[in-house]
Amino acid sequence: MTHDTRGMMEPIKVGLLGFGTVGSGTFNVLRRNQEEISRRAGRGIEITRVAVRNPAKAQQVLGDALGTVALTSDFAAVVDDPSLDIIAEMIGGTDIARELVLRAIHNGKHVVTANKALLAVHGTEIFEAARVKGVMVAFEAAVAGGIPIIKALREGLTANRIQYIAGIINGTTNFILSEMRERGLDFATALADAQRLGYAEADPTFDVEGIDAAHKATIMAAIAFGVPVQFERAYVEGITRLDALDIRYAEELGYRIKLLGIARRTTQGIELRVHPTLIPAKRLIANVQGAMNAVLVYGDAVGATLYYGKGAGAEPTASAVVADLVDVTRLHTADPNNRVPHLAFQPDRLATTPILPIDEVTSSYYLRLRVADQTGVLADITRILAALGISIDALLQKESEVVDASQAGETDIILITHETLEKNINTAISRIEALSTVRSGVTRLRMEALN
Ligand code: NDP
Ligand code: HSE
Repeated sequence: MTHDTRGMMEPIKVGLLGFGTVGSGTFNVLRRNQEEISRRAGRGIEITRVAVRNPAKAQQVLGDALGTVALTSDFAAVVDDPSLDIIAEMIGGTDIARELVLRAIHNGKHVVTANKALLAVHGTEIFEAARVKGVMVAFEAAVAGGIPIIKALREGLTANRIQYIAGIINGTTNFILSEMRERGLDFATALADAQRLGYAEADPTFDVEGIDAAHKATIMAAIAFGVPVQFERAYVEGITRLDALDIRYAEELGYRIKLLGIARRTTQGIELRVHPTLIPAKRLIANVQGAMNAVLVYGDAVGATLYYGKGAGAEPTASAVVADLVDVTRLHTADPNNRVPHLAFQPDRLATTPILPIDEVTSSYYLRLRVADQTGVLADITRILAALGISIDALLQKESEVVDASQAGETDIILITHETLEKNINTAISRIEALSTVRSGVTRLRMEALN
């Protein structure tokens, strides 16, 4: 360990890769709070080198802090710099970020990253490389931004057998759904608002198709259940096909629709899924509005716990990144075997519990369909459900908003079922759609009681 001339431990040196929203936020928070942070960490933490594609752009952001860091466009040079102890990867994506992270690990450096896509897809390779080299890969910011959910799952709840996690873990989609519900907007208009306000990415596909939430759910499932990260096995459905009509009907039935990331332990295996979900409006998590995030974790000892806060943005995310820098600084000299394992469980004790295919998942369902308003239609539908052992919990018939004359004499039926296997509801839907009196496809949404 190096000490300065007064016998104080010298600051730990960090190389930052990428200087966008999170990179610059991290730099600013660390600089602003450096005195308190070093009192907590036991030594200073200094970002001494920053790699950016466009140094001129970064120079503007750095302003009078420019003199304290060396800017370069040579990312590999930062990763190879022997004076650096920690590499903070704030680039994103799975290409160059993967190469640089593996190279940093190979060089014996600890890594801090906010990159959920990288860890959900390449986590197994990265954690194994880090284990071999005895370095840490810290990723608090990768899930739910500023909410310390990784720390909670990995350490605070370590006594528990986790039963399930259900999270609103994508702020962009929660903002869109809130706007659709509160202002009656359709999806396209709400998305345009999210982009105008800077919540959604210029290319919002990962957000609205549920992929970003599935990356985060994959990481939480691995930590909660001690299984490898398996993004490829996650079921992913976004909100692009969600109709404002269903948000309204759900409301009338006492539910809110949220894009939930769900990881649940069952006797058959692990459910890992992201999809729009009806949840009772009276649940706390149903009332998380706008771009905020919340994660509900149920442990066998503690019961339900709920974590709420900002899941994105420069400084909320930097809050998590800096917490990781402090953790790594404290544990830098610790025996690697005494550190908290990356996925909470010892790497040689990860389980092979299968991730269940969506057909094997159990849920209750909201079904909406348009039918000819005539005798016997409802009886035909309930017969199909009964034959498959699916029981009905609630039923609503709504006058359809007639769009043209051909739809006169039609009505909307909304059904809520009790729990059944997904494959049963799929069979029921195809049989119902084959009825001559059914005039639309069946809209199907999954439901969670979360009690
Ligand atoms: P930004 O796009 O704002 O910043 C990314 C930075 O990386 C920029 O400096 C960019 O350079 C640089 N960069 C991008 N691609 C390359 C490349 N191929 N080669 C070299 N440099 C590159 O992203 P964010 O700061 O928003 O996100 C960073 C990470 O943090 C991502 O993994 C993201 O998922 C994660 N994250 C983000 C949150 C947020 O609120 N924004 C919240 C939680 C996690 P240039 O400026 O030249 O484009
Ligand atoms: N695009 C993400 C969101 C950013 O909307 O939540 C944080 O990961």
